[in-house]
Amino acid sequence: MAKRTIVTMPGDGIGKVVLPEALRVLQAAGFEADYVHGDIGWDFWISEGNALPQRTVELLEKHKIGLFGAITSKSKDKAEAELSPALKGKGYTYYSPIVTMRQHFNLDICIRPCISFPGNPLNYVRKRPEGGTEEPNINVAVFRQNTEGLYAGVEWTNPPENVRKAFETHKKWAAFKNVPPQELAVSLRIITREASRRICKAAFEYARKFGYKSVTICEKPNVLRETSGLFTAEGKAVAKDYPGIACWETNIDAQMMWLSKNPEEYGVIVCSNMFGDIASDAFAGLVGGLGFACSANIGEEVAVFEPTHGSAPKYEKLQPSIVNPIAMILSACMMLDHIGETQKSDRIKAAIAAVVAEGKVRTYDMLRLPGGPDVFQKGAANTTQMADAIIGKL
Ligand code: NAI
Ligand code: MG
Repeated sequence: MAKRTIVTMPGDGIGKVVLPEALRVLQAAGFEADYVHGDIGWDFWISEGNALPQRTVELLEKHKIGLFGAITSKSKDKAEAELSPALKGKGYTYYSPIVTMRQHFNLDICIRPCISFPGNPLNYVRKRPEGGTEEPNINVAVFRQNTEGLYAGVEWTNPPENVRKAFETHKKWAAFKNVPPQELAVSLRIITREASRRICKAAFEYARKFGYKSVTICEKPNVLRETSGLFTAEGKAVAKDYPGIACWETNIDAQMMWLSKNPEEYGVIVCSNMFGDIASDAFAGLVGGLGFACSANIGEEVAVFEPTHGSAPKYEKLQPSIVNPIAMILSACMMLDHIGETQKSDRIKAAIAAVVAEGKVRTYDMLRLPGGPDVFQKGAANTTQMADAIIGKL
């Protein structure tokens, strides 16, 4: 079989540290691929006025699969101040390359598995009524619609007159009619049937592929009757094609409260954009947080796999690096699953599970230490040692 080509985009800060570790693990698991480097991130904003250069977009167009580390983004004034002097005042605007990538390739399906590894000191534990604690085994995959909803970007402070006029056609607008224009901001929550259907179908397909017994549609249709209503209706329609998988419904607020009640009972959870953002962070917090949180952004043609964390500038200069490479390695496993290399993915996940269970090699986050150069004296492993331990178990 011809080798695959994968576009590797380390990006900024710790992205440059964790991505090469993930490649070492992939190789140790016997996965062979050609890797081509894609420029992305802050350096390219500074030097070219574009954090996602066209040549990187073309690489993704050609090879379809991307492994991405993390990028740094900064506020508008900092972005302008750091732009190369030669480019200043020439109309360059900073756009987040990851948001641009999601929009350009319509990477509308975001998957964030939140799976507890037994023995991880960061796992959620629950008090038993009779005394003592228990550690539920959590295995949730959050499916987040990645391109629309409240994050579609259609928003105004002081909406133009014709927009206000349009709002006035809605009887509920009466309450805001007399608010002075500058005192008012509006963000539109846009939900389409097509995108709702795609994310819900992807959620049920995933449940079937990985043996989850339920898919929970987590919205708020009792209040957001139109948008959450439409999303939920599409989810329920899709559910009819999957009779073997239970379709549950929860409201996002109640779901957050129930997190600490029975997180182990949920399987796949599917949400619109912002609720998925919230639910995925919340579940990730129960199973180890940013050092463990992996994700996939999947479109019809292109798919990009990345840890949830950012570039952690606080730690980028520490040598050796202290950060946990597991989130990046698990993201690489998601890539393997996506391209049908599930056996290799399972092997890597089993190796991670073995290292975590053994508890001998732990990065600073797993020891609940404040990050800094002194974590090694306190028993923390460095990034490379963690990857080596995983490779050792392979
Ligand atoms: P961050 O995720 O980079 O770091 C927050 C904190 O989480 C770190 O200081 C560290 O304590 C911990 N952490 C993160 N990754 C870790 C790992 N692998 N192992 C152990 N601990 C880890 O978020 P922050 O500090 O809010 O943002 C830093 C930069 O990253 C910003 O410029 C931000 O815009 C960008 N960012 C980029 C993302 C992306 O590339 N998708 C996502 C989130 C933030
Ligand atoms: Mg988030």
